[in-house]
Order: sequence, then C-alpha cells, then structure tokens
Amino acid sequence: MAELSQIKGINARQIKLLQENGVNTAEALAMSPLRVISSIDGLGEKSAKKLIWNARTALGMTEFAPASDINENVEFITTGSSELNRILGGGFQTGKLTEIYGPFKSGKTNLAQTIAVTIQLPRSKGGLESAVCYIDTENTFSKEKVKRIAKRFGLNPSDVLAKIFHARIYSSDHQSQMIMKAEALCKTRNVRLIVVDSLMALLRAEYIGIGMLARRQATLNNMIHALSRIAETYNCAVLLTNQVATKMMGMFSGNDAIGGNSDVILNASLLNSCPWLSLQSNV
Ligand SMILES: Nc1ncnc2c1ncn2[C@@H]1O[C@H](COP(=O)(O)OP(=O)(O)O)[C@@H](O)[C@H]1O
Ligand SMILES: [Mg+2]
Repeated sequence: MAELSQIKGINARQIKLLQENGVNTAEALAMSPLRVISSIDGLGEKSAKKLIWNARTALGMTEFAPASDINENVEFITTGSSELNRILGGGFQTGKLTEIYGPFKSGKTNLAQTIAVTIQLPRSKGGLESAVCYIDTENTFSKEKVKRIAKRFGLNPSDVLAKIFHARIYSSDHQSQMIMKAEALCKTRNVRLIVVDSLMALLRAEYIGIGMLARRQATLNNMIHALSRIAETYNCAVLLTNQVATKMMGMFSGNDAIGGNSDVILNASLLNSCPWLSLQSNV
C-alpha cells in the first residue's frame, strides 16, 4: 500500500481533502473514476486529473504487462458448509464482490452473520483471522445470533463481537458515507470483510418511481464502484445482500440479482439445498 504523500505533486491540503472523502491511499486514488475525484469540493478538475494520473504512474498502472504476471492472490473464507464452499468455488473470496440475492427470510442475513464469524477463524480452520465492517441498513444484525454462531465455531462470543465493527444506517447517503469510512478500517483495523445488508433497501425507499431510476442507478453504481475498489486495494471480501421479490418494481421485474456489477452471485434459495443447517438448532 502506498501513502498519498508519495504521489508526485500532491500537497497537504489535497491529502486532507482526499482522506475526508474516503480516499486514503495512492491505490485508492489511482482506481477512482475522475468524475468522483473531481466532484470533491475544493479539489478542482485539473488537479484531480493530475493527481490520479500521477498515482497511476507511481503504481505502474500505466504500462501493459504480460498476462502471465497477473497476480490473482484470492483467499477463501469458509461458510461452515463444505457444499456451499464448493458452490462458491472454495468459499467466500477476497478481492471480490459477492451478492447474495433472494426473497425475504431466505437466509441472507444469517449467511452474512455467519461469514462475519468464520472470517475470524484461524487460517487452519478456513478463516483469515480478520475483522469485519457490517453496514446494517435494516436493523437486522443480531448480537445474540452472532454469539450463537461464534459458539458453533468454537470462538469466544465477546471476542467475535468486538471484531465486528457495526453501523446502523438510516439513509442512502449515510450508506455511501459509511462505505467510504469502511476503507479506513481496512487500513487500520485488519478488516477483510465488508458486509452491506442490504444494499438496495434504502435506495428503493428513497428513489421511488421510474423518474428516479437513473439517479438511483447512479448512486448504486458509486457505491459498487467504491466497494470494488476497496475489495481490490485491500484484498478484502465484500458481501452484499439483495432482497428480491416477484412483484413488478418500476419497470423491472424485481426477482433478479443486480448482476453485472458483482463478481460472484449466489441465489439464497440454494442455501436450502446445502447441508449447512447444522446451524438450525442454534438459530
Ligand atoms: N441456515 C439456517 N438454518 C436455520 N434457520 C435459518 C437459517 N438461515 C436463516 N434461518 C432463519 O430464517 C429466518 C430468516 O433468515 P434471515 O437470514 O433473516 O433471512 P433474510 O435476511 O433473507 O430475510 C430467520 O428467522 C433465521 O433464523
Ligand atoms: Mg435480512
């Protein structure tokens, strides 16, 4: 990870502005779209472009390299179910966005809380000994449930809760703000998993009707882009839940994953076919 101060031509004021907007490293800056950085109050479009380009140059991003040199570096986090791990290609993957979609009560939150625990396991047991940022838009995070899951995996419940940095979210703007804040915790608190449960709930509530679709999509894209960038910069796993319904919403039928933006898409109805329900007696 390279510090912002290592970028050619950057000054202290610009570093402060970038940090206030959740851009804490040269990597983060280099991967940001120009539009996002230019829109930071007080930075200006010309400086934004110069700084992004200088950051890319500093990181060797402005040269093509042989594909044989691509470093994938993916790590896997166990779900606690060998079958589900297999479906996911080895477990939840770092550096990627995984979307779990399904109807209300299909087990999305339960899976999110499970991974928030299993990532804390030692590597020998399928974890990464890492902490978690949990962005909770529906107020469904349950300490009691997490404690029970921790016990199932032989971890101390209070230790597990202490390593889940939780934020209750009240608006889509607050959600965007806390996604950016999560980046700082990746840097300083060994966070390797960001959960957004759920990604769309507040957006759906705030941007109602076809006339708002474009703005809703733009806000969503900004969040997804920020999360992808964090995932890549810190080799962090990102788990998004998305509630889908069969009724028509706006001009789209609602029972689809957001799709295109996510690297791994898991239909929560698959959870029912996995023999991972040893949790059942506990939840
Ligand atoms: N693996 C599981 N085994 C047993 N019960 C589960 C499991 N996953 C979820 N549940 C139960 O199903 C209900 C809905 O789960 P939840 O994760 O809140 O769904 P969603 O987030 O998709 O709405 C909860 O009461 C939860 O306790
Ligand atoms: Mg839920």
